[in-house]
Amino acid sequence: MERLDKVLANLGYGSRKEVKALVKNKEVLIDGEIAVDSSMQIDPEKSEIIVAGEKVNYRQFIYLLMNKPAGVVSATFDKFDETVIDLIDDEYKVFEPFPVGRLDKDTVGFLLVTNDGELNHRLISPKWHVDKVYYAEIDKKVEESDIKAFESGITLDDGYKCMPAKLEILSADDNGSEVRVTIQEGKFHQVKRMFNSVGKNVVYLKRISFGPLSLPEDLDEGQYRELTEKEIELLKKV
Ligand code: URA
Repeated sequence: MERLDKVLANLGYGSRKEVKALVKNKEVLIDGEIAVDSSMQIDPEKSEIIVAGEKVNYRQFIYLLMNKPAGVVSATFDKFDETVIDLIDDEYKVFEPFPVGRLDKDTVGFLLVTNDGELNHRLISPKWHVDKVYYAEIDKKVEESDIKAFESGITLDDGYKCMPAKLEILSADDNGSEVRVTIQEGKFHQVKRMFNSVGKNVVYLKRISFGPLSLPEDLDEGQYRELTEKEIELLKKV
């Protein structure tokens, strides 16, 4: 059980004082009855709450799938740059969400944004081996030997030996290549540094899937949507 004013304040209906005013104006119904006291105890999971004629969509956690655009940073706050959280509506911001892992400022594509700390922890922990698939454009011709090198584990510039990664060549010639890369880790600039280790540069990077979920084709860069119940379930099973 929780206090009504706390529940509504956490959902973004205003400060406790503002919620108190809503209750005073008889604008809050709990299971069909006008709430008389903003400090009353309710079970938000079980009770139907109506504010100003609209049913409250109660939840503790939110799960957003964003197609991250280039030029914004994967953080909740930044002194200089726009963040992925700046792209999110206030209706979700009240939940204090944060990005799960990081994509570089110039990387686009699949980014999960949530306030579920436990799920975040599981998904970014190297222990769980979540597949992350990237589409990348490379400045040179990617060869069979690169596929082998990725398979046996690339050693990065700092001496770190990566786990085996899958490299697929979609097209390749002397002007450059298009590839798909699947990694399970999330080291700083990992994909870029893996290609640097074989003498090549990533010129465009887009994450196309994350564990069981793929970037929807119809989600433009900068857009996001809530995950469905089914998608949340799939993620929690990872
Ligand atoms: N690897 C990178 O180099 N950058 C990203 O943003 C993600 C993976």
